[in-house]
Amino acid sequence: MCGIIGYAGTEEACPILLDGLERLEYRGYDSTGLALFTKDGGLLRLRAAGRLSALRRCVTQRLEQGADLHGNAGLGHTRWATHGAPTKENAHPHRSQEGKYTVVHNGIIENYAKLRGELEAAGIRFASQTDTEVIAHLLEQLDTGNPLETLRRALPRLEGSYALGVLYHAQPGTLYCARRQSPLLAASCVRGVLLASDAAAILPFTRTMFRLEDGEMAQLHANGAIFFFDAQGRALQKAATEIARHTTAADKGGYVHFMRKEIAEQPECLARTLAPLLSGGEIHLGESEAALENPGGIRRVLFLGCGSAHHAGITGRMLVEELSGIPASAELASEFRSAATAVDRHTLAVIISQSGETADSLQALRLAKEKGARTLSVINVEGSSIAAESGSVLYTRAGLEVAVATTKAYSAQLAALCALAARLGALRGQDPARLRDFVRSLAALPELAREVLADTEATAHAWAQELQSVQHAYFLGRNLDYATAMESALKLKEISYIHAEAYAAGELKHGTLSLIEPGTPVVALCCRPEVIPKTLGNAQEALARGAKLFCVTNRQNPLPERCLTLPPCHPLLVASLAVLPMQLLAYHCADLRGCDVDKPRSLAKSVTVE
Ligand code: M6R
Repeated sequence: MCGIIGYAGTEEACPILLDGLERLEYRGYDSTGLALFTKDGGLLRLRAAGRLSALRRCVTQRLEQGADLHGNAGLGHTRWATHGAPTKENAHPHRSQEGKYTVVHNGIIENYAKLRGELEAAGIRFASQTDTEVIAHLLEQLDTGNPLETLRRALPRLEGSYALGVLYHAQPGTLYCARRQSPLLAASCVRGVLLASDAAAILPFTRTMFRLEDGEMAQLHANGAIFFFDAQGRALQKAATEIARHTTAADKGGYVHFMRKEIAEQPECLARTLAPLLSGGEIHLGESEAALENPGGIRRVLFLGCGSAHHAGITGRMLVEELSGIPASAELASEFRSAATAVDRHTLAVIISQSGETADSLQALRLAKEKGARTLSVINVEGSSIAAESGSVLYTRAGLEVAVATTKAYSAQLAALCALAARLGALRGQDPARLRDFVRSLAALPELAREVLADTEATAHAWAQELQSVQHAYFLGRNLDYATAMESALKLKEISYIHAEAYAAGELKHGTLSLIEPGTPVVALCCRPEVIPKTLGNAQEALARGAKLFCVTNRQNPLPERCLTLPPCHPLLVASLAVLPMQLLAYHCADLRGCDVDKPRSLAKSVTVE
């Protein structure tokens, strides 16, 4: 989480930093700040609680007051609070007591309390509650006059994760940085050098950038030179990475919110994701085929991811078992790390992540590799950390997703997983006719999705009007519909702040049914043909207790209640269609409640802390 941008060069740094922060704001948006070397050699710091707009106001005010904000180097930061409330005092950059070091940080310093105690005992006064401030003071305490050498001495004292941007008071045209477990990129362009936690902030200047690896440091000069060093301070030669430009522009295209635009884009995203994988009625995964070599050696497929990516993994598990017969499971990446899950060279670990930067998923990937698994990642952001470290990558082609609540990237993940499951089925010699039938239906998915979005918008809006004032809602489903229920509940709660729970429909009577009282909203997902009768039975049980029932189904009016009817489709594709009206439902609920749809409170798009 948190976004870092740094610039040194020939241009005015302040607008570059502010624009960079704009592009990074999705990483965290509770406070922002920047530090700027001004023309007179001073180091100015501006910080504000709240969104970037507050920092922009602060800049405008300072200019109106006659402040000189001209300068060619500086650092900016947008924060997602971990230690200390989202106040101006806790906003980055943080500064050492004598002002020699100014620091922006992404990550968590796990031993910060111990370090803070030691620094306070040495007479340092802290100005914030953050873990980051210890870094600035530690650097000053260990200062050698050579910031690189000082960093080399200080970094081993830090436990935890960091992407660090550092300014040294006596070197106005130079940026320093270091990385452990949090992404950091450096680039040079005709106008100078850049440093960022994310390619999005660098892409307006260049597509060529260097990814720092764990333990590496860099020194960036305003003249465009960048020097890389390992943890011992030895010079490194690094290969640059070329990033393809995002295919989708970061604008709302006439929609009020990015989320609504991204929901609408799903048919094209599905088509883009599937096109390179489908040929002649068969699936071929291109470069990702490498992960499937010697398919007989794959005895288990393990899906790893967080949040919606985990829900995609649960769907993937069911698809793989149905289409290939290979035993599969899905685990939360954050739990996998502390569990003793059996993983070996016969495991295909599939890491699912839109951003490719989620810290828990990255660590899960590393652990799976350590245990000998083959690794294949399903990733939306090219050049991201998980993509870089995976054995193979299957890219989803959803384009840039801006809204914190994922919609189009989730759909693209499901499509990619359908393709993976079908390919595994083919490689394992499953019934070719059955697979052909599935692949044919998969190819038609983008058009079906277009139909569903058009046909369900009005009903989703009407349901949202009924649901907008409730406090709790329950989503029920079995099998693939259960995975959709989980995703639907997450979508509703994260953006509308309505408490929502998903239940495997058969589980309701084992405890949760006691919460269903007259008027409690229950959304029953009844789309997988084989389980519809049983789910309907469970929905009736809720209805009998007074629940206000909403039913999403592909059967004609199975209940006398509110029904949202989807077109018939392949039984294994129901998750891809049923989620669409549920995204619309969450969107309209949040919008009607006046919530900040694209930037829900306390969340961030890219979760780079564990
Ligand atoms: O970038 P990732 O796909 O790894 O992100 C995983 C989750 O943080 C993400 O899906 C999150 O749950 C979304 N906000 C859900 O809409």
